[in-house]
Amino acid sequence: MKGPQAPVGADMERKRALHARYPTALDLRARARRRMPNFAFEYMDGGAGAGGGVDRNWSALDHVELVPRYGLVAKPPAVTGELFGSVFSAPIGISPIGGPGTAFPGAETYLAKAAQAARVPYTLGVLSGVTVEQAAEMAPDVLWFQLYRFANNEHKIGLDLTRRAAAAGVRVLVLTIDTPIRTTRPREVKSGIANPFKLNMRLRMDALSSPAWLTSLARNGIPRFASLTPYMPPNTNLDESAAFIRRESGGAFTWDEIAKYRELWRGPLVLKGVLHPEDAERAVAMGIDGLFVTNHGGRQIEGLPSSIDVLPAIASAVGGKCALILDSGVRSGLDAARAVSLGADAAFVGKAFLWSLGALGPEGPAHLIDLLTEEFRSTMGQLGCKTIAELRSVPNRHPGKWTREEFARP
Ligand SMILES: Cc1cc2nc3c(=O)[nH]c(=O)nc-3n(C[C@H](O)[C@H](O)[C@H](O)COP(=O)(O)O)c2cc1C
Repeated sequence: MKGPQAPVGADMERKRALHARYPTALDLRARARRRMPNFAFEYMDGGAGAGGGVDRNWSALDHVELVPRYGLVAKPPAVTGELFGSVFSAPIGISPIGGPGTAFPGAETYLAKAAQAARVPYTLGVLSGVTVEQAAEMAPDVLWFQLYRFANNEHKIGLDLTRRAAAAGVRVLVLTIDTPIRTTRPREVKSGIANPFKLNMRLRMDALSSPAWLTSLARNGIPRFASLTPYMPPNTNLDESAAFIRRESGGAFTWDEIAKYRELWRGPLVLKGVLHPEDAERAVAMGIDGLFVTNHGGRQIEGLPSSIDVLPAIASAVGGKCALILDSGVRSGLDAARAVSLGADAAFVGKAFLWSLGALGPEGPAHLIDLLTEEFRSTMGQLGCKTIAELRSVPNRHPGKWTREEFARP
């Protein structure tokens, strides 16, 4: 795999300007809020209930302190990440996002291209506006593919999508296991987003205030569920396609079902949504290669622990026998370094990539990857670490950490 290309001339100037104006993910969030239609921002930003899960994710990461040692490293080290035998430019990646075209039309295309150019993993969600084959053309070296549970007719659709992903050259298959129920997020509901998405009069009026969103809609068209179209009757309209998905998908994968996918998929298989060490142990025992330690970005229910707080117990349970990816609440390279320091192999990011698109359009994802990578590197430098192994042995204080005994409590 070739490394990312260094920017030259005008590109370098633009990069500097973006760093000066939007030096953090939260600056991108603020601009996205101003620039996007209300419904789009509420879709990309909202959490379950009153948003307590999102707040806890942020606060739990903020409370992790890492102690530096000085006199060891003269300048910040080069950083790379490695997952499943592939080397990436940093231990960061893009989490799967369903219906990202609602937040920013064409999102999948912009994310796939930025990830490929920067050499970081991009996880295409199954509910996306491009097919898995199209995404594989745009991001051949870095594409991961996420599936929800399509269990009707003995998993006909889910298993077929798995075969298509293999044929398209997808690197890693991700099964999301943490959505046993369908949830709605109050901020989305209040913004008027119908489920299914429909550009009704209220949303049209809302979109009129956002030329950037409308321009991207004109360029990319109304978001559809492209990978699923072959399974729908011909000429299925948007409403019918959403009804189709509600009929065909739902519930959480059982262990027996996961075993079927393990049998079929020869490449690295990852479960997304693990928060309990015993689930992690069970996954390892059945030959799962990696786990997303995540609470779905606080979008399912508010009362789940933040993923960083359960990470150490899960890392100790799996003992290096499978890769660990942390997501939920990561907004910076420092957060990514906290996750890696506490046992993750990489930190993935969801909402902040949508903020980047809302703020800067197609050039947003590349800017965010840059910010995360640079800050990861400078965090390593500040802490005096030359390698990921050294980052793992930095002394830390982690007040929210769950102990193994707490998981055993009735
Ligand atoms: C708008 C939106 C849609 C999402 N859709 C999916 C999805 O289709 N499948 C999935 O596994 N996770 C989905 N997620 C969860 C993300 O993959 C990820 O776990 C979460 O966003 C990480 O937290 P963060 O947003 O704080 O970075 C979605 C997240 C957002 C914000």
